[in-house]
Amino acid sequence: MSPNSKIIFSIKDIYQNLAKISKLLEIKVGGWVKSIRESKEIVFITLNDGSMIDNLQLIISQENFSQNDLIGKINFASYLLVSGKLILTPQRKQLCEMLVQQIETVNSTDNNYPLQKNNIPLEVVRDYPHLRAKTNYFLTIFRLRHNISKAVHDFFHHENFYYVPTPIITSSDTEGAGEFFNIITSEKDSFFPKPASLTVSGQLQAEALAQGLGKVYTFSPCFRAENSHTTRHLAEFYMIEPEMAFADLEKVINLAEKLVKCVFDYVITNNIKELKFLEKFNKKELISKLQKILNSDFKKISYDESIKILEKERNKFVFNDIKWGIDLQFEHEKYLCQYFDNQPVFVTDYPIHLKAFYMKNNSDEKTTSSFDLLLPEIGELIGGSMREDNYEILREKALKIGLDTNNLRWYLDLRRYGYSRSGGFGLGLERLIMFISGTENIRDVIAFARYPKHLEF
Ligand code: 4AD
Ligand code: MG
Repeated sequence: MSPNSKIIFSIKDIYQNLAKISKLLEIKVGGWVKSIRESKEIVFITLNDGSMIDNLQLIISQENFSQNDLIGKINFASYLLVSGKLILTPQRKQLCEMLVQQIETVNSTDNNYPLQKNNIPLEVVRDYPHLRAKTNYFLTIFRLRHNISKAVHDFFHHENFYYVPTPIITSSDTEGAGEFFNIITSEKDSFFPKPASLTVSGQLQAEALAQGLGKVYTFSPCFRAENSHTTRHLAEFYMIEPEMAFADLEKVINLAEKLVKCVFDYVITNNIKELKFLEKFNKKELISKLQKILNSDFKKISYDESIKILEKERNKFVFNDIKWGIDLQFEHEKYLCQYFDNQPVFVTDYPIHLKAFYMKNNSDEKTTSSFDLLLPEIGELIGGSMREDNYEILREKALKIGLDTNNLRWYLDLRRYGYSRSGGFGLGLERLIMFISGTENIRDVIAFARYPKHLEF
């Protein structure tokens, strides 16, 4: 770094190298204007360039400033490139500020810019997905999302899992629920020899890879044409799906608990400023909530036990026809977490008819070797199971729900070619981000949300 270097520094560079950078005669900084305060003598501007949550304060002295014409052009959200001298201000709240000597570029915002202020309600911002990166909320969410994804990859690497690609274009309806998007081309002739769709889950292919690699995971977009208008469903979302050969249900459940805790620990260590911002914005305690979960063992109950708990409290629910065999509703899931001191709860051994065809039947012939992990506020975060290892039972279960077993032959055949028992789960990334950030609507934790009747950009 020569003493006169005029390279563009990121705000993160600046805060990480304060002493060094403050010695330079002149530096350049670019970014977007977050606020402007003007006095007779001085214009104070806070600038953010996306490199970190903190802003840089710019000081422009009106007196003796030859570029007064340019000052007038600077408005909220405009892009600025300036050069000047970094001054350390250890006695103030912000550790430094920049005395602007030259305004190199001002790209102002038009008068019709729809997000003129800070703190615009998220529902309003949702109408402008392409402008979300200009709001402090989404800058924070995206930084968090990045770090959560990194924590997930680090976790699996550390646990000796291989990151494997599973196809987005598929001919298998993994969940057997018929909720997939078909793929067609503009050509008259079909591109593929059979109907193709967007994947609902990479599990079946991950299972094939686990029968050789042992421990694998996929982290991939999944697509579901569920007509769900809830705050927890997207048509396109990201799922993290580990698959483990040689495992039993307890091992799979333990892995799920360890993963969730590892991510919480990572964000508390690396994103404390983001969490504090979100606490203020969403008026929720987030850090202590995550810490409490980190310090506890997740509760484990069977589906049978959960029905017994819910039966006693049936008058608390809108869906109050509580009996063995019902699918747990969101209100039930939330209640079960409340019941256990607002902690995550594993519910295991769901009835066969409620769960996907690939889940292993228990010896009672009524339930499956399966689990969901329920979290307070958001309900189901994870769904997982041991996989049916018996070729005939698996085939029958697939046939029973109308799946084409010829098309699934490859999957069934895994059971005939040196099969090791295997289990795994799927964790919805957006639901995890919702929980960590205290965001109420899943549409606000993904940049370009896809849901029924919405396809912006
Ligand atoms: O419970 P699901 O459907 O499980 C599977 O897809 C399995 N194949 C996973 C496996 O065993 N490998 O989905 C898993 C998780 C849910 O718990 C939820 O967090 C998320 O994926 N999820 C959704 N997230 C947002 N929008 C949707 N429409 C979602 N559907 C599922
Ligand atoms: Mg599920």
